[in-house]
Amino acid sequence: MNGRDLVRSMKAVSWARTAQRLRAVRASWRRRRADSAGLVRRGPQRARVPGAVVGADPAPGGGTVRFARSGLRIMVTVSGAVFWGWDGADPLPSYGVAGTCPAPDPRAVLEPDKDGGWRVVSERATVAVSRHGAVTLCTPGGVLLRRDLPPRWWGPESGAEARWVQRSQVPADARFFGLGGRASGPRLREGTYVLWNTDPGGSFGPQDDPLSLTMPVQVVVADAGTHLVFHDSTWNGAVTLREGREGAGSGHDRPGTCELRMEGGPLRCWVVVGTPARVLHTWTQLTGAPAVPPSWALGHHHARWGFGSEQEVRRVVAGYKERDLPLDAVHLDIDHLAAHQVFTVDRERFPSLPRLAEELREDGVRLVSIVDPAVRAERGNAVYDAGRAVDAFVRDAAGRLVRGVVWPGESAFPDFTAEGVRKWWGGLYEERLAQGFSGFWHDMNEPVSFSAFGDPSLPLSARHALEGRGGDHREAHNVYGLCMARAGFEGLRELQPQERPFVFSRSGWVGMQRYAGSWSGDVATGWPGLRASLSLVIGLGLCGVPYSGPDVGGFDGDPSPELYLRWFQLGAYMPLFRTHSALRAGRREPWTFGDEVVGHARVALDERRRLLPYFMTLAHLARRTGAPYVRPLWWGAPEDRGLRDCEDAFLLGECLLVAPVLDAGVVRRPVRLPRGRWYDTVTGERFEGPGVVSVDAPLSRVPVLARAGALFPVRGADGGVALEVWAPAPGDTGGGVVVADAGDGWEEPETTRYRVRWAQGRVVVEADGEESGGAVPYPVRVRGL
Ligand code: NOJ
Repeated sequence: MNGRDLVRSMKAVSWARTAQRLRAVRASWRRRRADSAGLVRRGPQRARVPGAVVGADPAPGGGTVRFARSGLRIMVTVSGAVFWGWDGADPLPSYGVAGTCPAPDPRAVLEPDKDGGWRVVSERATVAVSRHGAVTLCTPGGVLLRRDLPPRWWGPESGAEARWVQRSQVPADARFFGLGGRASGPRLREGTYVLWNTDPGGSFGPQDDPLSLTMPVQVVVADAGTHLVFHDSTWNGAVTLREGREGAGSGHDRPGTCELRMEGGPLRCWVVVGTPARVLHTWTQLTGAPAVPPSWALGHHHARWGFGSEQEVRRVVAGYKERDLPLDAVHLDIDHLAAHQVFTVDRERFPSLPRLAEELREDGVRLVSIVDPAVRAERGNAVYDAGRAVDAFVRDAAGRLVRGVVWPGESAFPDFTAEGVRKWWGGLYEERLAQGFSGFWHDMNEPVSFSAFGDPSLPLSARHALEGRGGDHREAHNVYGLCMARAGFEGLRELQPQERPFVFSRSGWVGMQRYAGSWSGDVATGWPGLRASLSLVIGLGLCGVPYSGPDVGGFDGDPSPELYLRWFQLGAYMPLFRTHSALRAGRREPWTFGDEVVGHARVALDERRRLLPYFMTLAHLARRTGAPYVRPLWWGAPEDRGLRDCEDAFLLGECLLVAPVLDAGVVRRPVRLPRGRWYDTVTGERFEGPGVVSVDAPLSRVPVLARAGALFPVRGADGGVALEVWAPAPGDTGGGVVVADAGDGWEEPETTRYRVRWAQGRVVVEADGEESGGAVPYPVRVRGL
């Protein structure tokens, strides 16, 4: 490009930006006008409370407790999850619950309490309802887990439009987690967390809330036990949390509190009690098994907004190859589209995507395409015309098409809450498959419409099908990304039935794991952003979405070589391991940061590749059990308060503990260990938990510790699977599960459990199960001897 071209293109860019800003101003006014015409203003409203109990009607799994001004239905299900709903709220319809509602447990019955209230006793929890509608959740042993005070409503007695507030108390020692992807966690401290999926508009740090993927799901961990509570309303709301304080034996504990204020939707919730593993298992039985990504999606991905051309993609891929750095996927952002229009290609700069895809595939690299929901609203745009023909786009209360502004300019938005629209949209991925793409990256699906003021989304009065029930954006907003994920996943499953779809999405809601994973959005480059990345992945995992990961290096600006490297080392242990950055940000190829970084990045990449069979096992275990790959340290020992407060390390499955470096200049760091023996996987040094130990963290690696007795599959030197075993402590036993890779289709892979024990001074490994006769079909390497 010569000087004159450069000046011309800069002028064009700045003109395009000004035009975009003007459109955003217009769209914001349009949005305001639509809402003042389309939404009924709420006048002053009197509060309502349930009033006094007047009776009860038993039903399978519990029954309904009747109050003067409301009713509370309680149902214990066979899965162990407990449902309760006020004002006649049923479990269905629900965007969170997968398929049908679990059956009631006939053993659970509603019985009168001695204080004039009612209770339902079940195997995993007791639910007691007071005379005025306070609901207490206890362990089977009678220890308090949560107490909901009687709720309060404002507005119509029936229908979704009543606002409500629910205050709850939890034990003084309880810690809160979850609420979807939050940047300030993983432990959610005192504060208000908004339940409205929001593009923070630029990069975000730990102080920013809400982000793209909120969920009304809390995981509460206390000495008394762990419980998960899901308030099943898709409307906007806010959760205000306050951790409790213990009275140091004075008997004056201040309980933790949680206040949930919702703008509408039913007041209903699901509660699951048990160990963290049991809670997540029941949770994903209720909301759906996490999709297993194809094996290549568990490798290393490289993305950039602004590769700009096929040559540049080839250059980057060659850079990885020349330096012998493993690479499994390259992601193309909106700059490969014609004028940013979804399901198109800029043929000048990407003249032959199918050929590029084929070439890359020969080198073991897949192409992933960005897919935004906004469709340029212009006749002649094939997607728009086709969408109009099937009436796919969101309309306002007066029946006019709702227009917003996103990258392609004035845009229309498919209404993914209509089954027919999902089907139509799902079919559009055929074009992407024909271009050679193997995976799909859903973006801007909160949904975003750029705005000069107000919420950067659609008008609240915009109409949605909501599966035929009909409603407006207040109810549909939070499930827009979830329904788009469903459209993509189901479309791909039909178009390419032999392969498991790979979809990951910025926005979503409860249950999105059925279709997609996620990534952490535009996390700000800086050490706080690195910490936020870990918080998001742990929080989402606890809400049932096990596959996610950050933009390694941060989205904007230029990380220092040290920050980049530490991010890279964290990313290597995240389910989605992807480098990515913004259009005007610095590059993220490892070699941009000098030879030393390349050397250390290679170590991280090689280790990731070596661990791929373990990641595959974790992906399948997540599908079967709901256990996330990345787990908080307290996963196996929620009673250990030190672990509950530890936010700078995590467990990767059962076997490994990863202690990333999250601050500058650190080369040795304290690591809090759960009970038992642990080994530094590089030096073999032995540590005994529980407690805090100091572990080397040189620039070349972050501490990764293996649990004594752990067994997990790795890629052996010959490329086949081998078992890595860490010696149990003397007198102890160990073991692990291996799920064999059965390819990227739907075949059910073989799962084997292996036992590890000491026999005559040697560590012995045997397969479980009679047919195997204990034989181990893989080479075994025992370490830590
Ligand atoms: C916002 C996404 O979060 C980011 O990852 C992407 O690069 C840009 N949109 C452009 O598509």
